Amino acid sequence: MAVRNASEGILSDDKAAQREELVELLKKAYWMEVETVMSYIANSINPDGVRAQEIIESLQEDIQEELGHAQQYARRIKELYGVVPGSLDFTAEQSYLQPPEHQTDIVHVIKGVIEAETGAIEHYNRIIEFTDGLDFVTQDMVIAILHDEEGHRRLFEGYLREYEAEGLA
Ligand SMILES: [Fe+2]
Ligand SMILES: [Fe+2]
Repeated sequence: MAVRNASEGILSDDKAAQREELVELLKKAYWMEVETVMSYIANSINPDGVRAQEIIESLQEDIQEELGHAQQYARRIKELYGVVPGSLDFTAEQSYLQPPEHQTDIVHVIKGVIEAETGAIEHYNRIIEFTDGLDFVTQDMVIAILHDEEGHRRLFEGYLREYEAEGLA
């Protein structure tokens, strides 16, 4: 007897095309998280100066969260019958999170983080819309991740406000 496929929901045969499209969206999300981990490692170590400490500690915490997000996306890709891509498929996009010319340039780092979080928020909202009525499990997972990213962005917006208030940004 052949193994029965799910007749309902995103795992059913008749949803194969939408499932593949969703897996592509999840792969992009996965790469965004992986690149964010790389960028946050560099930016949690490079900055110099007393003012950098809060940013460094904050990014150190975020690295673990973003790594967790990458693993969640990878697991969901597999559950949806996709394959987690290998490193040769990776294309870097975070031009705004490259090391600044001077390592005391904390505003550059703060703005780069806000840009990365904003990009994630935009892409994850797209996935939440795409999965609506189609795949509530992925939708639920991405909503929780989106909540984390909104928290990250808000925190760094607060840092930027402080620099703006002092005329430094
Ligand atoms: Fe993330
Ligand atoms: Fe984040």
